Amino acid sequence: MKKKILITGGAGFIGSHLVRHFVNKYLAYELYNLDALTYAGNLENLTDIQDKANYNFLKADITDAADIERLFKLHKFHSVIHLAAESHVDRSIKDPLSFAKTNILGTLHLLEAFKKYSDYKKGLFYHISTDEVYGSLGAEGLFTEKTSYDPNSPYSASKASSDHFVRAYGETYGLRYVISNCSNNYGSFQFPEKLIPLFIHNIIHLKPLPVYGDGHYTRDWLFVKDHANAIDTVFHKGISGETYNIGGHNEWKNIDLIKLLCSKMDVHLGRATGESEKLITFVKDRPGHDLRYAIDASKIERELGWKPSLSFDEGLEKTVVWYLENETWLNNLTSGKYQEYYERQYK
Ligand code: NAD
Ligand code: DAU
Repeated sequence: MKKKILITGGAGFIGSHLVRHFVNKYLAYELYNLDALTYAGNLENLTDIQDKANYNFLKADITDAADIERLFKLHKFHSVIHLAAESHVDRSIKDPLSFAKTNILGTLHLLEAFKKYSDYKKGLFYHISTDEVYGSLGAEGLFTEKTSYDPNSPYSASKASSDHFVRAYGETYGLRYVISNCSNNYGSFQFPEKLIPLFIHNIIHLKPLPVYGDGHYTRDWLFVKDHANAIDTVFHKGISGETYNIGGHNEWKNIDLIKLLCSKMDVHLGRATGESEKLITFVKDRPGHDLRYAIDASKIERELGWKPSLSFDEGLEKTVVWYLENETWLNNLTSGKYQEYYERQYK
């Protein structure tokens, strides 16, 4: 019988890339995508694989313990790759409770159901986490797997807590698990609340580009398909009980990245050089804004043989082209409720 692999959050940004990657590459698995289809989940991200024989979609909410238990009892999943989460820092500042509910309690419901109905000492519970659990770096240094947790936003506090619960289930009940902590992803199908797709959308529509604070905050950017590859590598080669940092060796100050994005957009939109940059508007800073994230990814590179495949220039170029060729996808997401969110966040 084929192994049943459950991916949660597979209709979101990273999840949809991961589901596509697994469905196309691993015909020996029966792949299940469990997603509640919140504002961030979108089945349009998966139209190319929706009819594949090894793909199944389960609409379910990880905060609904009874439904999660029912599904695990029914399917007895071999392994779980858990991505479902509330993922946007700005939303967590306005509504921390939903982040605790989904990211902490939702993860616990999955752990409980996996422990109860799966062969949890043979399968694997893989938690997809973030570098934000480590807090903020100063001008120097990198996050390693040994860096202490020091989360600053409600989002990162909820992810840190769920990481701890996964680890605790490993220590206490012997559940096989791995955790990876990744830096900022970019690429196609990212919801336009995050920096890059939001700014692409605003540049197209000649709307202001709201740069938080002075723009001198630094992030380490990784192309989303490289993250999907890294997750595949950790899932198949990672050691139970270990954590792996994943990053792109690709630090950018926000303002420099935004200027690069503006120049690419000018070229593609046939605008005069410097035109999109004129949209840059410095706005009130994000409360608790982490100054700098940067990942030391040497463990996964050395021990598991993964490394990023694309330069940032190549990845950003592909990303810009994708959003321009898929404006309908972008426009479908930026009407209705999105406008209310935008007003609230940027008024
Ligand atoms: P996303 O917001 O694009 O997608 C989240 C998905 O989870 C959506 O499909 C949504 O419908 C689903 N979901 C939310 N609440 C749910 C619930 N209660 N039950 C079932 N499904 C639910 O997020 P993303 O950017 O793709 O991130 C995926 C994971 O990777 C998250 O765990 C996030 O913390 C982590 N991560 C993200 C990044 C990044 O740069 N985006 C970097 C490192 C780690
Ligand atoms: O580091 C990994 C994390 O990266 C993931 O765990 C999160 O799920 C993901 O959302 C992302 O978090 P960030 O807060 O770093 O991403 P965001 O795209 O929201 O912001 C990137 C940087 O750009 C950050 O310094 C804030 C800034 N920013 C963002 C927005 C949306 C702006 O200046 N203006 C904006 O309008």
